[in-house]
Amino acid sequence: MEDKQSGFHDFFVIKAKENGVNVIGLTRGTDTRFHHTEKLDKGEVMLAQFTEHTSAIKVRGKAIIQTRHGVIDTEE
Ligand code: TRP
Repeated sequence: MEDKQSGFHDFFVIKAKENGVNVIGLTRGTDTRFHHTEKLDKGEVMLAQFTEHTSAIKVRGKAIIQTRHGVIDTEE
């Protein structure tokens, strides 16, 4: 989500619970495709933001994902 006044996009946090977790960024707009894959090893944490280029992310593997909407464990 983008705050229209500040232009600020939401951040999210991913913590990998195993080696080889993939965080995949998907493009914003009519063309929805992968544009970036980040590999995290166990214990690694990624902080990132939704941006004008990134409207969605896909997480593959065992990880904890924290957003303003709550915390999700991919194993649950
Ligand atoms: N160049 C990307 C962008 O500005 C970098 C990025 C931001 C990204 N958030 C991401 C890549 C989330 C993967 C997942 O949108």
